[in-house]
Amino acid sequence: RGGAPSCPAPSSHILRRSFSAESAPERKVAVLGAAGGIGQPLALLMKLNPLVSRLALYDIAGTPGVAADVSHINTRAEVKGYMAEEQLGQALEGSDVVIIPAGVPRKPGMTRDDLFNINAGIVKSLCTAIAKYCPNALVNMISNPVNSTVPIAAEVFKKAGTYDEKKLFGVTTLDVVRAKTFYAGKANVPVAEVDVPVVGGHAGITILPLFSQATPATNALSEDGIKALTKRTQDGGTEVVEAKAGKGSATLSMAYAGAIFADACLKGLNEIPDIVECSFVQSSITELPFFASKVRLGKNGVEEVLGLGTLSDYEKEGLENLKPELKASIEKGIKFAKEN
Ligand code: NAI
Repeated sequence: RGGAPSCPAPSSHILRRSFSAESAPERKVAVLGAAGGIGQPLALLMKLNPLVSRLALYDIAGTPGVAADVSHINTRAEVKGYMAEEQLGQALEGSDVVIIPAGVPRKPGMTRDDLFNINAGIVKSLCTAIAKYCPNALVNMISNPVNSTVPIAAEVFKKAGTYDEKKLFGVTTLDVVRAKTFYAGKANVPVAEVDVPVVGGHAGITILPLFSQATPATNALSEDGIKALTKRTQDGGTEVVEAKAGKGSATLSMAYAGAIFADACLKGLNEIPDIVECSFVQSSITELPFFASKVRLGKNGVEEVLGLGTLSDYEKEGLENLKPELKASIEKGIKFAKEN
């Protein structure tokens, strides 16, 4: 008391400054489909993120209510709701990150591919507007089937002359979130410490969790145990679709996963080092043009697509098995974008 105020070490000072709301750069995030099952909790989570200074909530209906509600929360982001296509441009203008959970979700018995016809059209029109109003934004694609909607977005951007492969991401974070949760339960390790890369794509067998690289490592899992965990991760979405019995697919866990991924994108833009997340991106680590793997994020989006590391024999087999389906889904997306 009465003495000079203690001075924090320079490194911790810099760290604190780069995370504090006051000094974080202005960042605008737009959520397209913001009144939906995913969109609403995602809007809430983005409003809680101190890196966001402006939050634009767009949907074809229902956004005034969601925006009014979320805007009363006493955090940094200034919230505005935009409804109907004539307001889409305003919603997008100046966005640094655009998150797209617009579209229809699965019902029991449907695969993600069954959503193709409706969601492909929605994604195409939203991406056409992104190319026009915020061509430099990082795009986080949640709308399914991600294995096809990401290639559709790439084609739309190419046609508009705005495509930058570093700025287009298929959000596969929910697969990682599930793999971590299921692994922690079986390996009996604290879930907060767990890391599991998930590679490939985002549907059925194209989702390939790499439990051989999971940390903390464990001896508690047999080969059959790993197969069961892999299957549960691949079928995680279907587990929720069936439990919701016709009332949609994963929304709360997806909003959480979407918020984690968008936060990583914002940290990358703000040049916080060593931000690594799995994502479905343009890739040359296999012969397929798009592939999910660990990606290092930076001020321009993707800074580096990281390789697959050493795979177990079971994972090598899974990798070969997923390629035909993933290739077909990518080609289906490209074909749709070229013909429509
Ligand atoms: P939902 O039906 O509850 O909400 C979708 C929202 O999109 C609705 O509010 C609707 O009005 C809006 N919408 C429809 N057309 C639009 C357009 N042209 N522009 C803007 N908004 C539009 O569906 P939910 O559960 O939120 O799922 C959304 C999408 O996310 C689905 O395609 C679903 O399959 C996908 N999903 C992806 C996951 C992933 O891991 N990537 C996980 C779970 C779902």
